[in-house]
Amino acid sequence: MNWKIKAAIQKVLSLTRIGDQLNHVAAKLNKDYHSNVFKYQTYESLRKFKDCNIDLQKGATALEIGTGYSILSAITLSLLGFKKVVTVDITNDLKFSTFKKQIPFLHTSSFLEEVTLKSIHSKNDILNKISSIENSTSLNALFNDLNIVYKAPYMFEDIEKECSSFNYITSQVVLEHMSPPALDSLFRHTKKWLTPNGFAVHTINFIDHFANPGFFQDKSISEFNFLKYSDKFWNFWAGNSIAYTNRLSYLYYLELAKKHELNVVEFIGENYRERTELNINLIHLDVIKKYDQVEDLTNLTTYQRGTLILKS
Ligand SMILES: C[S@@+](CC[C@H](N)C(=O)[O-])C[C@H]1O[C@@H](n2cnc3c(N)ncnc32)[C@H](O)[C@@H]1O
Repeated sequence: MNWKIKAAIQKVLSLTRIGDQLNHVAAKLNKDYHSNVFKYQTYESLRKFKDCNIDLQKGATALEIGTGYSILSAITLSLLGFKKVVTVDITNDLKFSTFKKQIPFLHTSSFLEEVTLKSIHSKNDILNKISSIENSTSLNALFNDLNIVYKAPYMFEDIEKECSSFNYITSQVVLEHMSPPALDSLFRHTKKWLTPNGFAVHTINFIDHFANPGFFQDKSISEFNFLKYSDKFWNFWAGNSIAYTNRLSYLYYLELAKKHELNVVEFIGENYRERTELNINLIHLDVIKKYDQVEDLTNLTTYQRGTLILKS
């Protein structure tokens, strides 16, 4: 299906108050939705944490940017032993009724094994925490119990009021939805907030989301199709709260890290799906202009996804 059909629907939905939720309804119709959300959220949360060497014994704090529709990532961090977890989003999309359906999966043996291996808590303590999660009657009760702070919508100042330093700052497929000024602010605050031994770990999806699998997928386009367009054209089609992606490659995040004097421990680039190469000569000047310097245009389409690991 031509990507403009999905773009037009999202544009209209974004004008309604419940547009983003309606956009999410199709995904929730899948009978394995809750199991898939559990697997994805906990797997990704543990994977990113494994790349860091954080001492949880001394009362470590974590910040998650972009909670989304699931609190499982924050819960995983809490079970690992973070004494406080702050999780923020620009929209409040959490529902206790949805979370309740995901609680039983916390008993998945592979998850328990992996959390126990990395946690400062014993398996018994983790099971006690899960049992307390099972008994919680609201999201607020759950948050009080685990010392999770959820702010949505949020401002950077709200985060600072909760905690002035973090041992771990993380996000999962969120940074590509942030505008360049918002990213600049995030990296500036990261430099300020990250403890000397702390880590920031962000997984970023670099591809055109209209090439994502699903009913509306446009199978005829490259996964970097969006790089062909001017800012004006792209903003017309995708400059709304549902569809916005910044069209930035890993190079931009490396430039931001340099600007804010954050050390890049590693950038792990991935190509997780079949590639449909974009002719780099079609990349629009508006896209190239976002960078301080691009020596080789192929760098803008090298990776479909990546994980950026930063230290102060
Ligand atoms: C693709 S979802 C990912 C959500 C969640 N991390 C996950 O893995 O399911 C992107 C999320 O980023 C949030 N978001 C967009 N801009 C943001 C910003 N400036 N700060 C925090 N969250 C933001 C959106 O509201 C949305 O919940």
